Parts: sequence; structure tokens; C-alpha cells
Amino acid sequence: MSSAVADFDRWIRNDFAHLNTELEEAYFAARTQILLDCAELDGIKQRLMREGAELARRITDSRAMPQDPHMRYELLGSVGYYLGACRRHEIDGAQAAAWPLARLLGSSLGVAPRFVFAHQAFYNRAVRDRFRTFTSLEDERTFITYNALAALAYQRTATSLGRISQLGVSSPLAAYLLQDALTGLDEVLHFSKVLSKQLDTERFFFNIRPYFKPYRVGGVEYRGANAGDFAAINSIDVLLGLCSPYDPFYQAVLAEKYPYMPPEEQALLRTTTATEPLLDAFIRESADGPLTPQLRDNADLFLSVCRRFGAAYAFHHHQLVGPFLKEPATYAPPEQQSDLTASGPPLDVVIENLSRLSDLRAARPRPGATSARASLDKLRELLDATA
Ligand code: HEM
Repeated sequence: MSSAVADFDRWIRNDFAHLNTELEEAYFAARTQILLDCAELDGIKQRLMREGAELARRITDSRAMPQDPHMRYELLGSVGYYLGACRRHEIDGAQAAAWPLARLLGSSLGVAPRFVFAHQAFYNRAVRDRFRTFTSLEDERTFITYNALAALAYQRTATSLGRISQLGVSSPLAAYLLQDALTGLDEVLHFSKVLSKQLDTERFFFNIRPYFKPYRVGGVEYRGANAGDFAAINSIDVLLGLCSPYDPFYQAVLAEKYPYMPPEEQALLRTTTATEPLLDAFIRESADGPLTPQLRDNADLFLSVCRRFGAAYAFHHHQLVGPFLKEPATYAPPEQQSDLTASGPPLDVVIENLSRLSDLRAARPRPGATSARASLDKLRELLDATA
């Protein structure tokens, strides 16, 4: 690591986090998302903007881009933290000095030139127990840790499901993999429940969520970070057959995500579009003559996996998005109502999109949407008919 990159990293891990924490404590004491025109706080904001700009400029001036793509991605995360914090504190000015570095890193990797969920979760090397965070608030650490653990559990599920098609759905090995997928989904639900218990609603709303907003790099605005920017959740959707890459609504969900994921996740997401859904494979084999014992057991397990997946996502919708975002938002003053979401659209539009995804994942029919309900019922009937 060059000394300019090391200095920037050290600053992000120390002074940057302390300055943000000081500002957050002041906002929290006033129970507001931001305090403007306060001389003491303005001094802290200016220091944050100036120091980050200077350190980022030193990297660009010394042409010290890391050779290793992982290190470049981590550095993009750090520059993104700095720009995200400037946006959060509504500071405008010297941070433009970091734009060339963000752009250079983004274009060298084929990703959006901003920080995303992967920078917080998986490209975030811990040093002496601490990974990079915006603040030193315990709730931020809790939020990132349990989001990332849930994403790891989704990844475990996707990996197991992805291995089944080449074995065949009636293989005894498929039973093991389906069981592993079920365990992975139990873990998603477990980590989500721990998060909902440990995270303080007000801390999340006032001090953590505001860093995830969209921000500009040069003339372009890039949407904010969310824990959905990894391929596994979509691999599971498509592998189970609950969402289809032929559905225009779902196509838009996939297409929008690519720049907000690391290059290797983009490659994984691309493979989902050409996969035969396991649901189709189970129906095909079950309809093709009398049901064999292993096929029956595996189909039963498969239906449990689908139910568990729907339940884990319903928890996200009703126990995380609802209490941590939708409900506190009703108390936000009118002038802040249009600035509440990570993706940019108004909150009710974001909630409606998430609700549609929740219905797809639970195979709940809704007018005008493609649902897997009829196919799942058909598989259930085939199983019942030969019970
Ligand atoms: C307090 C906790 C959480 C809150 C308030 C929350 C809120 C949200 C919101 C508002 C979005 C939509 C972003 C936008 O378009 O603006 C979103 C997306 C998403 N979140 Fe969370 N989230 C939380 C935790 C988690 C956890 C633990 C996971 C598990 C990995 C997760 C997985 C996802 C996924 C997969 C998406 C993308 C939409 C999709 O494909 O379903 N979230 N979240």
C-alpha cells in the first residue's frame, strides 16, 4: 500500500469516524436528522471535508492507484465513505477533489464510483477488531455485522441450491443440499431477528440510515447503498423458480443492480438468467410416471425451502423495513420526507417495490404480477396424488 493510500485509510478508521460521531451525537441529542447553521458543528464539518479532500488529492497526485483489484475496491469504499459523509452532513465544496479518484477507481473496476453495501460488509478488512465504519456508534457496528451475516447465510443457501441442477433433483445428494439451503435460510431469519432486537430504532433512523443516501460524483447522481446488492438473493429467487428473469418487473430489478455490486458478484448475477428453475425440474420429473421415494423426499424438502425463503423475506419487510424506516419516517418533518430512501424514489414507491418482491418470494398472487403459486400448488398436488 502506498503511503498516500495508507494515510487515507488511517484517517478513515480514526479521525473521520470520530468527527462523524461528534456530529451524530449532536444530532441525536436534538433528535433530528441534521443540524444546520451551528458554528461549532460547522467547524467539524469543514474539517471533515478539508482533511478528506486533501488526503484523496494526494493519492491522485501521486498516481498511487493500487495494482490489486481487491485493494482498489476497498479504496473505492473509503473514498465513498468520505463522499457519503459529505452528503449526509450536507457539506458542499472541497469534496469534489475526491471525484477524480472515485471515477478512476470505478471505471477501472466496472462499477459505480461510490460506496455500496459490499464495501461495508465484505471488502472491509478488520484491524484490531474494528472494520471501517462511518461512526464509532455501537448500533452502526451491529447493523453492518448482522446485515453481512444474513447476506453470508443467503450466499450459503444460493451455493447449495446452485449445485443441484447438475446432480438432478432426485439425487440423494440433492437432499443434503436442500437441507443445507434450509439451514442457511434459518440463519438468515436468526440474524435478522437478532438485528431487530439489538438495533435501536432511533439510532438507526437518525444516525445510521442517513449515510446511505444517493450522492453525486461529478455531474452524475448514484443511488444509495442497501443490503440487497449481492447476487445470492437473486440466484435463490431464480433457482427456486419464485422470480423469473423473463418477468419485466424482475428484469428491471436485476438490471439496475449491476453497477452497485463488486465485479465477481456481477459475474454471478449474470449466470442466474440462464438457469433452469428447480421448481420446473421437480414438476417435470414428478409428472413423468410414478413418484420415486427420493424424488418425493426431495420435493417435500424443496417446498419447505420455498416456504422458509418467503418467511425470511417477509421478516425483512414487516419487522425491519416497517419498524426501522416506515414508522419513524411518519414523524420526520415535511421538508425531510422526500429525502428518506437509499435508492432515491419516495418512500412509498420503495416500499411498494419491496412489497411486490415480498409477494413474489412468498408466491403470493397479486394482480398483474407473475407468481409461482400455481406451479407450487401443482407440485403439491402431484405429491398428494401419489401419497
Ligand atoms: C434495519 C434493518 C434493515 C432495513 C431498515 C432495511 C431496509 C431496506 C430498504 C428500505 C430497502 C430498499 C432500498 C431502496 O430501494 O431504497 C432494502 C433492500 C434490501 N434489503 Fe434491507 N433492510 C434491513 C436489513 C436487511 C438485512 C438484514 C438483509 C439481509 C441480507 C436485507 C436485505 C435486503 C435486500 C435483499 C434488499 C434488496 C431488495 C430485494 O432484492 O429484495 N436487508 N432494505
